[in-house]
Amino acid sequence: MAIILDGKKIADEIRIEVKTAAAHLKTTTGLVPGLAFILVGENPASQSYVKSKGIACDDAGFHSVTERLPASASEADVLSLIDAFNRDVKIHGILVQLPLPAHIDEQRVIEAIDPSKDVDGFHPANIGRVMIGMDTFYPCTPAGILEILKRYDINPSGKHVVVVGRSNIVGKPIANMLVQKKEWCNAIVTIAHTAAKDLASFTRQADILIAAVGKPGMITADMVKPGAVVIDVGINRIADPSSKTGSRLVGDVDYEPVKAVAGAITPVPGGVGRTTIAMLLVNTLKAAVMSQR
Ligand SMILES: NC(=O)c1ccc[n+]([C@@H]2O[C@H](COP(=O)([O-])OP(=O)(O)OC[C@H]3O[C@@H](n4cnc5c(N)ncnc54)[C@H](OP(=O)(O)O)[C@@H]3O)[C@@H](O)[C@H]2O)c1
Repeated sequence: MAIILDGKKIADEIRIEVKTAAAHLKTTTGLVPGLAFILVGENPASQSYVKSKGIACDDAGFHSVTERLPASASEADVLSLIDAFNRDVKIHGILVQLPLPAHIDEQRVIEAIDPSKDVDGFHPANIGRVMIGMDTFYPCTPAGILEILKRYDINPSGKHVVVVGRSNIVGKPIANMLVQKKEWCNAIVTIAHTAAKDLASFTRQADILIAAVGKPGMITADMVKPGAVVIDVGINRIADPSSKTGSRLVGDVDYEPVKAVAGAITPVPGGVGRTTIAMLLVNTLKAAVMSQR
């Protein structure tokens, strides 16, 4: 039976560390880390994410502001808000909640954020730094995965990591981070995606399997090598008539059967998702500290 990699526990630890560091920063320099959220439209999931991130900022002793724009807002409206936050000395991090309405060019918006305030780590300048192993703002979800591995003493060095999914926010950055010749990385990495004719032939080779696909339960027990570490990034809402809300969250991994063969596994909820917000706080604190240089 697999060890459960408790993302909530890790996230709580990180959040206490950040809160302590932020209090020290305030006492010694007077600086309070500031994070600006831009939320466009009424997407319920986006509203809930921004609310949770705002609460996390309050808990950490950060300053945060949320600018809400209607779904009809133009790209120019969003760019003008970003421009104002880029120039605001009380704001060290800017987060535009994705996805944006279809008429707004997401890439143009991401590139408008000052890279030194890009606490999501999505700006090409920061992704480029990830790619060549430089210090930067690591995208929060991949950074959370690394923290889970590190804090459970699972060293990827020399291990075969198979990442299923090649998105710019999870699959590509986590693969690039793990392949670096660095402590707690140094893995042999394979990225699989929809062009894989026999996906299981890849996933079964994984010592560490990372699923970032967005398909409920698609990684089944027969696709996992016995004893492998399984990191489930997926957050999928499925119908569940037995739940009060009529739905529940599941990952990309068929949890119970995979738990029976894996050596360790992250649950959903309570796994990677928890650490994502904690790493946003880490990046914002880092941006505030860097702003003094
Ligand atoms: N825990 C967190 O904090 C967090 C953060 C971000 C995302 N997520 C969740 O993680 C999941 C993935 O998100 P994302 O933004 O990375 O997704 P995405 O941009 O939709 O990318 C999904 C990737 O999965 C691949 N894929 C889809 N179906 C596949 C299949 N049958 N076989 C092999 N590969 C397949 C796609 O391949 P192609 O490129 O070939 O299309 C694509 O590369 C979602 O459930 C999302 O909600 C969680």
